[in-house]
Parts: sequence; C-alpha cells; structure tokens
Amino acid sequence: MYHMGNAMMDVTPRPALTMIAGEGAWLTDNHGKRYLDFIQGWAVNCLGHSPAIIAETLAAQAATLINCSPSYYNAPMLALAEQIVKHSGLHKVFFTSSGAEANEGAIKLARRWGEKFKRGAYEIITLQNSFHGRTLATMSASGKPQWEALFEPKVTGFSKVPINDIDAITSAITGNTVAIMLEPVQGEGGVIPATREYLQALRELTRQQGILLILDEVQTGMGRTGTLFAFQQAGIVPDILTLGKGLGAGVPLAAMVASDNVSCFEHGDQGGTFSGTPLMTAVGNAVFAIVSQPTFLHTVVKRGEYLRQRLRALSATFGLGNVRGEGLLVALEVPQGNASSIAAEAFAQGLLINATRPQILRFMPALNVTEAEVDEMVARLTKVLSSGVQTFNSV
Ligand SMILES: Cc1ncc(COP(=O)(O)O)c(C=O)c1O
Repeated sequence: MYHMGNAMMDVTPRPALTMIAGEGAWLTDNHGKRYLDFIQGWAVNCLGHSPAIIAETLAAQAATLINCSPSYYNAPMLALAEQIVKHSGLHKVFFTSSGAEANEGAIKLARRWGEKFKRGAYEIITLQNSFHGRTLATMSASGKPQWEALFEPKVTGFSKVPINDIDAITSAITGNTVAIMLEPVQGEGGVIPATREYLQALRELTRQQGILLILDEVQTGMGRTGTLFAFQQAGIVPDILTLGKGLGAGVPLAAMVASDNVSCFEHGDQGGTFSGTPLMTAVGNAVFAIVSQPTFLHTVVKRGEYLRQRLRALSATFGLGNVRGEGLLVALEVPQGNASSIAAEAFAQGLLINATRPQILRFMPALNVTEAEVDEMVARLTKVLSSGVQTFNSV
C-alpha cells in the first residue's frame, strides 16, 4: 500500500496531506480545506502566497535569462546588490540560496579577516538560545540547547553567552576573538529581543576591541520588525549583515553583506553555483521595491501593533501570558506549556500558527496582512482556546 511521503526522507513530522495552492493569507490542501496562514513559510512569504508581482517577475525573467553562472555579472544581481548597499550603509554583497549559507559565509569572512588583520583570531562569540542555520558551522554557532550533543565533533571556535548581558560578553572576549554574532531578535528562540541599549553597547564594545559585529537578520530583516533592517532601530550599523527569508518572498535567496574594510575574500575563498542567479535576484528586486517603501513599513508597524493589541485581549480572556515582539514578528506566551497542542488544534480548525517552544506561540503573517485577516485569525484562535485549552497536553 502507498503511504504518503514514503520517498521523502523523514526529517520532520508532516500531516498526511499535500498543500496545493496559496493565495495571499490562505493556503489550500488537496482536500480543498483552506488554512489562514500566520506562519507564511516561516516568515518567508513577506508578500503572502503567490503574489502576482512575484509570479510575473519570475515569468518575465525566466523568459529572458535564468542562469548564466556566477562567473558573470547579470543585471538583476547588480541592481539588487546596489539596493541592499544603498539601504544598509554597507558596501559589498555576496548572494546565497539560504540563510544558513549566508551565515556560513559571514563566519568564513570573519575568520579570513582575523587571519589577515587580527593575528589569526578566529573565535566568534554567539548567544545562548540563538539560531543561525543547519550547516555544521552554523549549528555550531547556534545556541540551541537540543543541538549541543548532536553531530560531534562540532566546528570549534564558538563561545556562547546569555543575551542582553554586556558584562558576560565582555568577559568572554579573548585574544582569539574575531567577532560577536547575534540576531537582533531571537526568532526561533521564541521572539526574544536584544535590547537597543545592548545592541548599542555591543557596537561600542566591538569598536573598542577591534573586532567585528555580525548581525543575523535572516528573520528580522526585510521589514519584518517594522524597519527595513532591525538594526536601524538601535541606530547602529554592523560590520557584516546576513539576510534571507523575506528577501526572496518565497524563492531561495539570501545574502551576506559587509563593509568595505571587512570584504577581504581572495578569489577562490567563496562562491556557489547558485550565487546571484538572475531568476532569484530579479525577485529580490521586486521585493525590495515594495518592502523598502516607507508607507509599506509604516503599515507593518501599525498592523503589528494591532496584532499585539488583539492578542493581549485574548491573553487576558484566557489567562495566557505576555505578548511581545516588533512589527510582525510576534509571540504570545502560553505559561501552561501547551503551545504545541494549541497549534495542532488550530491546524485542525484551519489556522496555521507556530509553537517554537512549549510556552510560546509565534505569529509571522505576511507583511501585507490586513486587519480583517488579523481579526479572522483571532476569531479562529478564540474558538480553539474556547474548545478547552486546559485539556490540551503539551507534546
Ligand atoms: C535568524 C536565522 N538565521 C538563519 C536561519 C537559517 O536560514 P535557512 O533556513 O534559510 O538556512 C534562520 C531560519 O529560520 C533564522 O531564523
């Protein structure tokens, strides 16, 4: 007998159905059931499912030039790099297909810089509870407790400190330290923000010590927190920045961006078959043209405030915990520890929300989500919670 997914490597639990179509805030499965999507490919589909602009851009670019190899410049690649440079205050861009690869590139660039300019310093201080990807080096950089014993021996050279503790990070600096690397808001870790003061203090500390500040904005970048990049809210600029997820609005596109004086790769140090393909970077340009508009970002801020306000009221009604987050990266604490059960029941009721931790529900809708869609999400979640939250056991 045929079992769904038998030929797919079993790396994650999946329901026995297939998703066949998406439109805006909605996904449809093979039974015709519709789901209101507040996960959006894990904060990836910043313009919602299958937006016309992305479909049209892909079709037009596919008919012109899909791939000419990274050995040549192509027009969309150059245009997107220029946009990123113009808005970030940094100077050089290397494109990748995933956030993990962008971070892997950032780690390599920092090590190369340390080798050339810092007497071989190579250690990077990262944060406990952080998430930087699933390659071996980015898993080693991540502070996810469940990964500590996995895939040994890890890539060495990463030390972990608690977030928002400037004394701890200052004490962790050694003669071998080349960089500090962190997410402005720990997304997978449960929407835990680094405070503005902490980010500012880190910028000052790294300057004093002559080491690099690397910001992983794979999740927080591209308007997710209400500004194009989250670091802008702290009034700082990092030495290296990584972007992914929303940059491609659903297609595999990510980037590692660095300041001029740090961009020290020699030919052959870095590359990749799919680096900066015209097909993907054309999409990046279309996304950038929309998401970098001040009016668009203003709406993200407003919609985020509305979402948090609605969730706070819901939390008061059902005796849940705090609501936190910036822009449209939002978490609701579930002190009862049954976030997974709530997310599972929500799925059954046609609502997609994400349980990153037993106590945390995460909401990351499309950045163009409407108030009516937020209202509909709250109505569905209310129904789920009314159906007996106490009886859902945590998994
Ligand atoms: C902050 C952060 N960095 C890196 C990654 C890894 O990105 P990717 O899954 O595209 O490799 C993620 C993915 O969730 C992320 O949230």
